[in-house]
Amino acid sequence: MAKPQAFETLAIHAGQPPDPATGAVMTPVYLTSTYRQTAVGETLGFEYSRTGNPTRKALEACLAALEGGTIGLAFASGMAAIDAVVHLLSPGDHVLAVSDLYGGTYRLFQRLYAQYGLTFSYAEPQDPQRFIASARPETRLIVLESPTNPMLNLADLSAISDLAHRLPRKPWVCVDNTFATPYLQQPLSLGADIVVHSTTKYLGGHSDVVGGAIVIREPELAERLAFIQNAVGGVAGPLDSFLVLRGIKTLAVRMDRHAVNAQAVAQVLSQHPGVEQVYYPGLPSHPQFDLARRQMRNAGGMVSFRVRGGPRAARRFAEATRIFALGESLGGVESLVEVPAAMTHLSTADSGLAVDPALVRLSVGLEGAADLVEDVERGLKAAG
Ligand SMILES: Cc1ncc(COP(=O)(O)O)c(C=O)c1O
Repeated sequence: MAKPQAFETLAIHAGQPPDPATGAVMTPVYLTSTYRQTAVGETLGFEYSRTGNPTRKALEACLAALEGGTIGLAFASGMAAIDAVVHLLSPGDHVLAVSDLYGGTYRLFQRLYAQYGLTFSYAEPQDPQRFIASARPETRLIVLESPTNPMLNLADLSAISDLAHRLPRKPWVCVDNTFATPYLQQPLSLGADIVVHSTTKYLGGHSDVVGGAIVIREPELAERLAFIQNAVGGVAGPLDSFLVLRGIKTLAVRMDRHAVNAQAVAQVLSQHPGVEQVYYPGLPSHPQFDLARRQMRNAGGMVSFRVRGGPRAARRFAEATRIFALGESLGGVESLVEVPAAMTHLSTADSGLAVDPALVRLSVGLEGAADLVEDVERGLKAAG
């Protein structure tokens, strides 16, 4: 049997052989909605681009290889991918999710799907037994983020998947792997059933595309999700698929450098008198530092912290940095800063899941580490 290929090799080549027609090394962008049939119902493998498109197919194959799944499905956004997963459920089903999850996911659950007979509850993931104790007899889906957005808490994916699969309805365990990427951790190999991504973030990596993905290993579940993808139609377009594919080629080197820079920034923050607390799984002070070392290749590029001086100080920090651009999103080569309570997680305000308004979230990019540290010090000075 052939030796399994390294992650870096798969990222550059899986699903992307040189174009057989021209030898083009980069996957062509097939800007076509339909395909000529050779006879009625006889195709060369593609019939209509909602159902399948060669550029999207290359991305889907690459994603499946990187996550260790059998099938990848590419969507128009991370939310479209999560929405497709919720379509697996029926009225009466219950979803148990981590308590600090992306605000848009919370909004989708509470403001849309709660109207359709689904119920949702939320629990902290740090203690797997306690988390699973919040499941109900009708729990059909478990939604995890690890690290969580924005508190950088970790879930022990293997322990939670194991406990979940012993519940009466054997709920599917779905992991939003956006923050970690398959380079840092592969949830399917730890026992999860479904991986979702906002490919907008590290997979795309250059802040130039919005996209999403699902990867599954089990064939029957894969077939159901592929059916939903085609039936609902929130698919990734060919140009977007190309951009994500191109981003993925450098994922490994980018993630290594994101982590080096994030560690430098987290270190400086943790020693600064103007900072109350830093949340970064690469710091020994993180309560799940050991789990991070076990479960993740490195601690990633996201750092959150609470500034001394409350919400106003947090805003002053976010408005004072010059390299860290004030903006939503994350995972690009350029550094970003935001105040989650007022920006990405606004939809959790007035809920039990509201984020501390003094929390600042950094997406640490690939600029020079010394410049980033200097910029953070500038922000802290302005925060007062
Ligand atoms: C962890 C996580 N999941 C999902 C999403 C949604 O992805 P998209 O914005 O591509 O729809 C985001 C967006 O910020 C996210 O941070």
